[in-house]
Amino acid sequence: MERRRFLHSTAASTFLLRGFQLKAADDTPALLGGAPVRRDKWPSWPVFNQTEENGLLDVLRSGLWGRGGGHRVEEFERSYAKLLGSAHCLATANGTSALITSLGAFGVGAGDEVIIPPYTFVATLNAVLLHYALPVFVDTDVETFQINHRRIEAAITPATKLIMPVQLGGGMAEMDEILEIANARKIPVLEDACQSHLAEWRGKRAGTLGKAGCFSFQASKNLNSGEGGAIVSDDGDFIERCYAFHNNGRGRKATNYNFSYASNGANLRLTEFQAAILLAQMRRVEAQSSTREQNARFLTLQLKQIEGITPAVEYSGATRNAYHLYMFRYNPEGFSGLPRSTFIQALNAEGIGCGGGYSPLTEEPFLKARLESAAYKKLYGEKRIAEVMEQNRCPDNVRLCNEAVWFTQTMLLGGRNDMENIVQAIQKIRKHAGALKARS
Ligand SMILES: Cc1ncc(COP(=O)(O)O)c(C=O)c1O
Repeated sequence: MERRRFLHSTAASTFLLRGFQLKAADDTPALLGGAPVRRDKWPSWPVFNQTEENGLLDVLRSGLWGRGGGHRVEEFERSYAKLLGSAHCLATANGTSALITSLGAFGVGAGDEVIIPPYTFVATLNAVLLHYALPVFVDTDVETFQINHRRIEAAITPATKLIMPVQLGGGMAEMDEILEIANARKIPVLEDACQSHLAEWRGKRAGTLGKAGCFSFQASKNLNSGEGGAIVSDDGDFIERCYAFHNNGRGRKATNYNFSYASNGANLRLTEFQAAILLAQMRRVEAQSSTREQNARFLTLQLKQIEGITPAVEYSGATRNAYHLYMFRYNPEGFSGLPRSTFIQALNAEGIGCGGGYSPLTEEPFLKARLESAAYKKLYGEKRIAEVMEQNRCPDNVRLCNEAVWFTQTMLLGGRNDMENIVQAIQKIRKHAGALKARS
């Protein structure tokens, strides 16, 4: 009896001890040797089923693989225009070619200035440089991660040909202000909505607010065909100019034996294979968007209560966020001075994949080299190049690049438990920030 009691109590204390040890080990940051908050995989991406497979096989067997042969590219264009509430859509090989094509159709070229934000993927800038236009950067609003609309007016010159806000991360730039400034000066607005499928401004979908909007269907995007892109516009003539540009200058009437040209251009066409995937993927895009929104709403409610974490805010006119990215700013002061790089490392170690986002585009050596090239100096004059390089510094954007942390859209396709894991991991890191800092 005595022995039994002893064994029982020993077993109990071992259990308790084990329990305590487990708890203690669980609470230790994974970066310091503890158990990670999660080992589970995040939702897999891309999502597909038999419909994608059937679509691809149908195209394969039809032998009509390119645009013009089959019907799928045009069917996708009609469906995507309808989804967004736009009169016209032209599919392109990718988002970069949607931008290049649009700039071509706007007639942007040497001697023209184009206003762009610095907090964006490099394709926004490359599209401008490929047309030999001068990129004029307008600094970022760090609260929203979008172009700072309050500074656009000051960047306009008689040479400004186009204003190109980016609807970044699934959010929306302040479109009321941007359109007012642009309309007052009769400067067209091209929305780079490559990251913002189904985002809305006062109920109107991203890409449909300006003269035209560009989208990407690259593999990471919320609507995905591996590579792919689209331009939407209510202006039929503009879309016809885009069509010709993306078809090596050949308009819709061009046939195999008709070599007449409407303009210059390049081959930037979408294939029937990509269109088949897009048509299938489009059936899921609304439901996936709603899931992301719900999860992002929960995350924001939780994360904004944590000192040192400031989720990106939205302008009041933004009625829907596509959450291609979930973005927040990290302030080491809320985390005992823990540097952002260690915070990111620690969060990844907890099984919460994240990154620091863009580096400052305006400080890229390739941009400096391009602007200081003989061609650019000849086109714009040394004085204007020097002025623009000075103006392009964008200190707020540099600050944001040092503070940002991103989660990808695929994480937002998870359940409530996945979102709770994110919050738990950040809280755990904050609790042990001092120890993590000592190790970094
Ligand atoms: C803001 C932005 N613009 C343009 C692009 C270019 O799209 P793509 O990669 O399809 O060429 C991207 C893609 O990441 C983007 O995020």
